[in-house]
Amino acid sequence: MAEESNSSAFSMGKSAQEKGLPYVPECYKIPASQRPSLSPMTAEDIPVVDLAGLKQGPIERATVIERMGNACRLLGFFQIVNHGICQSVLDDALSMAFEFFKLPESEKMKYMSNDVHKPVRYCSSLKDGVDKIQYWRVFLKHYSHPLRHWIDAWPDNPSDYREKMGRYSTEVRKLGLELFEAITESLGLGPTYLSKKMEVGMQVMAVNCYPPCPSPDMALGLPPHSDYSCFTILLQSSHGLQIVDAQDGRWRSVPVLHGALQVHVGDHIEVLSNGLYKSVVHRAVLSGERTRISIASLHSLGLDEKMETAKQLVDEENPKRYKESSFKDFLNFLSANDVSEGKNFIDTLKIGN
Ligand code: OGA
Ligand code: NI
Repeated sequence: MAEESNSSAFSMGKSAQEKGLPYVPECYKIPASQRPSLSPMTAEDIPVVDLAGLKQGPIERATVIERMGNACRLLGFFQIVNHGICQSVLDDALSMAFEFFKLPESEKMKYMSNDVHKPVRYCSSLKDGVDKIQYWRVFLKHYSHPLRHWIDAWPDNPSDYREKMGRYSTEVRKLGLELFEAITESLGLGPTYLSKKMEVGMQVMAVNCYPPCPSPDMALGLPPHSDYSCFTILLQSSHGLQIVDAQDGRWRSVPVLHGALQVHVGDHIEVLSNGLYKSVVHRAVLSGERTRISIASLHSLGLDEKMETAKQLVDEENPKRYKESSFKDFLNFLSANDVSEGKNFIDTLKIGN
């Protein structure tokens, strides 16, 4: 059993979750004090923002923006409905993901890599076989914008993966640009603040698969973390997402609302807003019975473009609280640090830390 306690025995292709091991190996076990409660309080009060009003009159738009701003400030998280992406596009994206992960190992092998700088890669855990604790997840990550630039490197099996995932990706990106405008507007910076730079920014899709886990109370799909992005738009097949409620520091399960999407404020909006909006700490918990799929679309400025705190949000009372940073800086952080030991990118940006 010595090997069983060593992460390196579970690198991609050999991970417990890919093999469907009937038990949870030692190196997947979360320390007892940090184990997830699988039924924590569901946050009935997680805000649901109806985006229909964004395109109605100025009064309706202002109401939506105020609601969104409050959610960003209090929780760093909200769900959206009437977002304009039709159900069939969402369903098709999820089914492509399910089918991809069902493919034989030989097919997924083509994309396997633990080089975090690769634009298209398949991997297991967070950093497979490297971090002290391993996570019960497999994932495919691909850059998605501009789509024509990357799509030929995406999987071509299942045969309609590119078409259907591409369609979702294009629609969620358009939605992302609208959300960004609304968020900067809610900060009093106006809807065009940085919008040109966002238009030529990055979109990374993390297609996550969490196979059933024999002891879902002992392991995690993803450890507590915040996303480096400006914000992340998440589509999930079933529940499993938990967030920390910044008001009381407790974990909350996000209720599944059919057809809704989840929006996480990421580190780069925390920086932009000088801490007015907090990037939400979240994790993925597991199920004993079913495979869960989630598709996270992460939106940010260009690879080398630094996100800075808006000057309008800095004054004598509110000095600048964050250093500037780019997506590339995050990737360098990720490859050099073990997130399972509780290291967070955002902490490295805080001035005075
Ligand atoms: C992520 C993420 C949550 C989930 O991919 O960054 O937090 O529910 N995913 O899969
Ligand atoms: Ni995340």
